[in-house]
Amino acid sequence: MGPLLKMTLAAGLIVTTTQAFAHGDVAPQPVDTAALPDLEEEWPEENPFREAGGGVYVEAIEIGASGYNQNCARCHGLEVVSGGLAPDLRYLSADWEGDEWYVERFVNGYSQNGVTKMPAFGELLGGKAAWAIRSYVETRPDDGALDEFADRLGEIRDDLKTKAEAVADGTEMSDFEDEITALREELDGIAGQVPSGSGAKLTDSPASRAVAMLDGSPDSLTKATETLTVGLSAAE
Ligand code: HEC
Repeated sequence: MGPLLKMTLAAGLIVTTTQAFAHGDVAPQPVDTAALPDLEEEWPEENPFREAGGGVYVEAIEIGASGYNQNCARCHGLEVVSGGLAPDLRYLSADWEGDEWYVERFVNGYSQNGVTKMPAFGELLGGKAAWAIRSYVETRPDDGALDEFADRLGEIRDDLKTKAEAVADGTEMSDFEDEITALREELDGIAGQVPSGSGAKLTDSPASRAVAMLDGSPDSLTKATETLTVGLSAAE
């Protein structure tokens, strides 16, 4: 290949990546909110999924996690831990004041001297996606919130892993029933003690996720083990 052709190709590549990047920066990614109940009002004063509580809140957190990762994480940070590009959203209080400010920014975005620093998401993603993302953001654990439980969570993880391996080797799941029930209760207790940054009553942590997974099936042992492993390495 001659030098001229090489240069042309390289230039072409640069143009393409820049375009892709600029495009990726402004195009909001749709969020699938079909599993969530419809809202009476799109922009109520407070997070309607927090108010609904229970399974609706948990579902909203899960959907919000993926909506957040696709639309917000590149500026506000993975797991909502800001790297400094944009404010840390974990500390917006989980009440009407925090919600009001959240909606203001979500709907209008933010521009400074004609430069868009944050795109407006309101019309493109809508209220259901906004509140699902809000639910995820407000239930993040506070900085270091898992530290005091990390050793015990590591032990529980190892215990579940050993049980998963034993079951794979032919041990009956029912042999472990009582032990798993006890571990599940302990995890639930830990989950209830992990503080959120926003003051929300529920904190979405590896402990709470593992509790939700442990449904008594052999598969759930492996899944809970993985969830704890990933959560503990992220918390380090
Ligand atoms: C291109 C970068 C970018 C993206 C993408 C982005 N934001 Fe922002 N966001 C910012 C910046 C910069 C600010 C600070 C604006 C200011 O000074 O008030 C901000 C501010 C905010 C605030 C106000 C926070 C505070 O403490 O004042 C909220 C809430 C917010 N963003 C939510 C979101 C959500 C939710 C998403 C995803 C749907 C998102 N942002 C996507 C850059 C971004």
